[in-house]
Amino acid sequence: MDYSAKDTRYDNMVYRRCGQSGIKLPALSLGLWHNFAGVDVFENSRAIICKAFDLGITHIDLANNYGPPPGSAEETFGAIFEKDLKPYRDELIISTKAGYGMWSGPYGDWGSKKYLVSSLDQSLKRMKLNYVDIFYHHRPDPETPIEETMAALDLIVRQGKALYAGISNYSAEQTEKAIKVLKQLGTPCLIHQAKYSMFERWVEGGLLDVLEKQGSGCISFSPLAQGLLTDKYLGGIPEGSRASKEHGFLKPQNITDEKIEKVRKLNELSKKRSQSLAQLAIAWLLKDNRITSILIGASKVEQVEDCVNSINNLNFTKEELNEIEKILK
Ligand SMILES: NC(=O)c1ccc[n+]([C@@H]2O[C@H](COP(=O)([O-])OP(=O)(O)OC[C@H]3O[C@@H](n4cnc5c(N)ncnc54)[C@H](OP(=O)(O)O)[C@@H]3O)[C@@H](O)[C@H]2O)c1
Repeated sequence: MDYSAKDTRYDNMVYRRCGQSGIKLPALSLGLWHNFAGVDVFENSRAIICKAFDLGITHIDLANNYGPPPGSAEETFGAIFEKDLKPYRDELIISTKAGYGMWSGPYGDWGSKKYLVSSLDQSLKRMKLNYVDIFYHHRPDPETPIEETMAALDLIVRQGKALYAGISNYSAEQTEKAIKVLKQLGTPCLIHQAKYSMFERWVEGGLLDVLEKQGSGCISFSPLAQGLLTDKYLGGIPEGSRASKEHGFLKPQNITDEKIEKVRKLNELSKKRSQSLAQLAIAWLLKDNRITSILIGASKVEQVEDCVNSINNLNFTKEELNEIEKILK
């Protein structure tokens, strides 16, 4: 079936400015880490991406290594782009990253200029794109000088292969340094992609302050703790869930009784707010306006719809916030 984007796609989504840049991102973005690879069902991946765009999700996030096999999520995206999204290229913010192992030898991993430039060239081919909107360094490299890695991002932006530069998984201190180096080169750091959820709150300990001070945005990944912050694991590990899959990054041993107890209490609270737990978890992150966007994953179209509906109730009472803190303690 041919795809044509819905005319209503901009009716409900909220767009938030990314730091002090000219770019606004949707309050929710879609990541292709799981469920868009060679091992997944293409038509399901396609339906999820098209639904996301129909709901105003203009930002899709990838990385060179998303799979399995590595690179295959970019290939899936490339096929969907060619088939469905090409007419909408100027309405989309597409990002990819390099920083983890991609090919053998000394130039296929970490943070050298050689690796980053070659990797993006490969990614663009797989994604059938002339440029990406954001190119990230995926994780800090303890051996490559940060000046070299940032010079690679600057070069890529100057070549027009990416419009903006970003970093991911950098500590607050490393972030401050990276932003400073990029500023000196004349390419601002648009955004930091950081793990942030009710269960993973390290960004509150300094990173968000640095980003605010420096005018960079923040997009939070794994906002549902890979699905844990939903009701799906309350009765065990269901068939087809991420934790049930051999290649899934959520392992059964991550689903502890202690976490499930918290999830149960959060789920009760979400019911009182007439929200799903996924919606509560997303709304709770969006209460901080330093967070530009929430980067969700999805294995089903209905999950995207459910998550997007979180924007219908973003307000919390003081009592609700206190109760959440008590549960998370
Ligand atoms: N920069 C980095 O180092 C890094 C690392 C990790 C991720 N990321 C990015 O962040 C994106 C999101 O990460 P993530 O997939 O871990 O995010 P997540 O939103 O925490 O987890 C997504 C999973 O939660 C479940 N889910 C989503 N919506 C649901 C709903 N409404 N109801 C019930 N279950 C729901 C699905 O699990 P099932 O599959 O079990 O149905 C889905 O696959 C990635 O795709 C990637 O772009 C970046």
